[in-house]
Amino acid sequence: MESSRKSPPKTTQPRFDEVFHGDCIDVMSAWPDGFVDLAYLDPPFLTQKRHKSTNRERSKTFAFDDLWGSHHDYSEFIYQRVAQCHRILKDTGSIYFHCDRNATHIARAVLDDIFGAERFRSEIIWTYRRWSNSKNGLLASHQNIFYYTKSENFKFNQLLTDYSPSTNVDQILQQRARDSNGKSIYRRDKDGNVISNGAKRGVPLGDVWDIPYLNPKANERVGYPTQKPILLLERIIELSTDSGDIVVDPFCGSGTTLVASSLSHRKFIGIDVSAEACQLSRSRLSSPVKTESALLETGRASYANADSQLLQCLSGCDYVPVQRNSGIDAIVNAPTTNSIALVRIQRADETVNEAASLLIKASRGKNADLLIVVKTRHVATLFDDDEATTNVQVIESTAFAVNEAVAALQREA
Ligand SMILES: C[S@@+](CC[C@H](N)C(=O)[O-])C[C@H]1O[C@@H](n2cnc3c(N)ncnc32)[C@H](O)[C@@H]1O
Repeated sequence: MESSRKSPPKTTQPRFDEVFHGDCIDVMSAWPDGFVDLAYLDPPFLTQKRHKSTNRERSKTFAFDDLWGSHHDYSEFIYQRVAQCHRILKDTGSIYFHCDRNATHIARAVLDDIFGAERFRSEIIWTYRRWSNSKNGLLASHQNIFYYTKSENFKFNQLLTDYSPSTNVDQILQQRARDSNGKSIYRRDKDGNVISNGAKRGVPLGDVWDIPYLNPKANERVGYPTQKPILLLERIIELSTDSGDIVVDPFCGSGTTLVASSLSHRKFIGIDVSAEACQLSRSRLSSPVKTESALLETGRASYANADSQLLQCLSGCDYVPVQRNSGIDAIVNAPTTNSIALVRIQRADETVNEAASLLIKASRGKNADLLIVVKTRHVATLFDDDEATTNVQVIESTAFAVNEAVAALQREA
């Protein structure tokens, strides 16, 4: 009898909390079916570029190729690897496929084909601010993450976010009913008291995630090209797994998913075709560092509010606010000459000289034509040299000048 050419079922699970070196299709092919809770894939995006970057100490350069002969080659590459992910996922498991506008159409078609269009759950838009000159079009400021599940019986932990400031929270906490005219009214108990809803603790997390891109100075940044923030992965892990579950990242790069899994007490397996990426992932895992985002904790609005109070003294000027810079508060353009002035507004606890040195430091390399400190107060100094700033023009704010004039009046009286 002719022997079956089908390979025997694989039974041995790989070691957990490990990073494997190799093409992920080869590594995953050796694994058994249905043991993984979550697969997160951040493969090359079809950018037709070699991605390269250097670590903070400038001692090491990391790179990977994202160069393809054709869209078909890319599609085939993705198809085979997503098919392996599908096979190793549990029935309750989920896949998150990260890409950008270069490959969204291909990824969606591949995922629909392998998982089934009915297993598509969400397209998550990861949005972030970038400070770059857009050449001839809109500045790309989001990436896409396709979320599919293997079956209808999938694991999902609902995450709740805060109500928007305009939501009347006390109203949504009350049960409602319709009166005889169909008008919405509060439901009341037999004593006439409004009945509480009890259950609402926030708004279910949406599919647009505003998570800052890692800035070049973030502690978490290890210098790997296209490194993703741990916060992004933590959110995905929290949504689709519980403590002790198994997370696989077949394109792990610098190991962000693995670090996020480890910090969230999940088991993980990483794979990368680059030996250097595997080494980097292992070293990150030995002492995980996560940057806490003040922006996320306090919200973007709080930054804008703090700055807008400060910037009130520039009202009437044609300025662009500069957020989150330790020395510069605003840029004022002189449109006809194309020259720029950088402005710092003196804080309550700093002298004019201190404000000026912060401004000078922050303006290095920015090629400004003029540096301006707006003086808002007198701050007592040990030596009376506070106005002795060079290279910086000091201008009194209107409020300061008015207060000074009134104080002078009082002294004369
Ligand atoms: C976009 S990067 C991943 C970045 C990662 N998410 C991070 O936060 O650092 C893509 C990675 O896929 C790896 N890669 C490319 N082809 C691969 C393959 N066939 N098997 C495994 N890894 C591969 C590259 O070496 C690169 O590290």
